[in-house]
Amino acid sequence: MIDKQPPLFRLENVSLKISGKLLLENISLDISQGDFMLITGPSGSGKTTLLRMLNGLHSPTSGNVHYNGKPILNENLAQTRQEIGMVFQNPAVFMGSVRENLLLRQRWDASFLPSEKDTANALQNVDLAGDMLNADARSLSGGEKQRLALARVLLNNPKALLLDEPTANLDEALAAQILERISKLKHDLGLTVVLVSHQSSAYMEGISRNIQLDKGNIT
Ligand SMILES: Nc1ncnc2c1ncn2[C@@H]1O[C@H](COP(=O)(O)OP(=O)(O)O)[C@@H](O)[C@H]1O
Ligand SMILES: [Mg+2]
Repeated sequence: MIDKQPPLFRLENVSLKISGKLLLENISLDISQGDFMLITGPSGSGKTTLLRMLNGLHSPTSGNVHYNGKPILNENLAQTRQEIGMVFQNPAVFMGSVRENLLLRQRWDASFLPSEKDTANALQNVDLAGDMLNADARSLSGGEKQRLALARVLLNNPKALLLDEPTANLDEALAAQILERISKLKHDLGLTVVLVSHQSSAYMEGISRNIQLDKGNIT
């Protein structure tokens, strides 16, 4: 008998309360392998909180978050976080070159040795010029830092990408270009993508589902 594959992510009646404030209220949601989910909603509606929940950065006050059929908060969380590449809206960039930032994982994982070609490809995938490798990472613009962070998670060969407003810091033309890249990466690498945006899906190709949050609830 063939077991049905569990969804990549499953939230069951997830609520999160911090300092008496309900940030998420009774959210139930399945995200299947290969989904391209768009999460929209006004500022403060809980979009970032929900993404953080999917990366095991919050523990629900009640309810369950499962990744690949198991509670996400388990002893494999570090491994899980490599499979789930999260790009924050204002990603941290560390002192050093773009290359050093891309290869940051080497500081704690000596087995992480991407080839020069993979490293160059990762930059190309996010439309950053190859000659940027030796630039000081802190000199990059907000949009470039976000793309550097995306290139870094791509080097981990993720199964899923969690992207928090990846185009918020970009002008319209570049935003369209990056969304196109994300769709292509999703397609080429068979990724599951969860994308937070306050833009509507009309701007994006390939979105398979769109949920809307309001005050911590799916509307
Ligand atoms: N760690 C936290 N502690 C307390 N309140 C928080 C915390 N993180 C977010 N919030 C609050 O939760 C609400 C939802 O935040 P957030 O998920 O960042 O919204 P969005 O990303 O949709 O703009 C906001 O009112 C925010 O101020
Ligand atoms: Mg946010």
